[in-house]
Amino acid sequence: MRSIIDISDLSVEELQELIGVAEDIIANPEKYQDACKRKKLATLFFEPSTRTRMSFEAAMYELGGNVISVSSAASSSAAKGESVADTVKTVSCYTDIIAMRHPKEGAAYVAAQNASIPVINAGDGGHCHPTQTLADLLTIWREKGRFDNLTVGFCGDLKFGRTVHSLITALARYTGIKFVLISPQELKLPSYIKKDVLKRNGLQYVQTMDLESVMPELDILYMTRVQKERFFNEEDYLRLKDSYILNPEKLKKAKPDLCIMHPLPRVNEISVAVDDDPRACYFKQVLNGKYMRMALILKLLKEAGTI
Ligand code: NCD
Repeated sequence: MRSIIDISDLSVEELQELIGVAEDIIANPEKYQDACKRKKLATLFFEPSTRTRMSFEAAMYELGGNVISVSSAASSSAAKGESVADTVKTVSCYTDIIAMRHPKEGAAYVAAQNASIPVINAGDGGHCHPTQTLADLLTIWREKGRFDNLTVGFCGDLKFGRTVHSLITALARYTGIKFVLISPQELKLPSYIKKDVLKRNGLQYVQTMDLESVMPELDILYMTRVQKERFFNEEDYLRLKDSYILNPEKLKKAKPDLCIMHPLPRVNEISVAVDDDPRACYFKQVLNGKYMRMALILKLLKEAGTI
């Protein structure tokens, strides 16, 4: 049974195919309105979420399917001590596909090993978040028309930011990408990603603490929230949370066609004054996420022989 745990579970060709389907859904939504009729998606969210869960649910409804969900650990048998393995074995009896978010790294993998239906990782701790990457890729595709030869800045919490880990892993497979990693010392990209993804593929990257000095080079600026829930002590969080605040002043030196991205939710990292800048793409990402999740649900259910 095919599950999507990590973005590298999808080949570059499959990513392009999903983008093609998403673009067709955007152009011809009626063609897809009954594609998943009488099929069910389970959203199992053991961590807070607004966009990802609602996006999966909206995606399934727009495909003509239905949704059943667990929206917190506290309201499910996880609170009684049930294992992820047992939960997904149970859920496999009720639905056709699962989207799961969990605070523990590797939980989605365990779920996929135990489910008899496809599992989609909707975020596992500070590890990865492949469907946010699908949203990000469609946004880059629609804004830039390519994935090659881009200088991409990642700014903020690169240590715990799972969306960063997944997008870097995805972009590492294209040519001519330059990575600019902007973070405080304590929130640098984990060394396993530098080693396994960047160095192994001989990719160009620079690390800096200074956003303004690199701003003029960037084609894409991916801002992130400091991941409060992954900190061991509040003091460190309070010290680091406002390390970077993007505002119109700082954007003065940016390229006129910069694409400003953020997986959301935003706290203080982007001032609301930036929202009216035509280069702000973060709410476009939200919409693109729904189309890519539709494309992914379709693909996995087709491969499973469910539709
Ligand atoms: C992200 C996540 O959950 O990792 N949110 C999302 O899914 N769009 C980013 C974040 O929470 O900061």
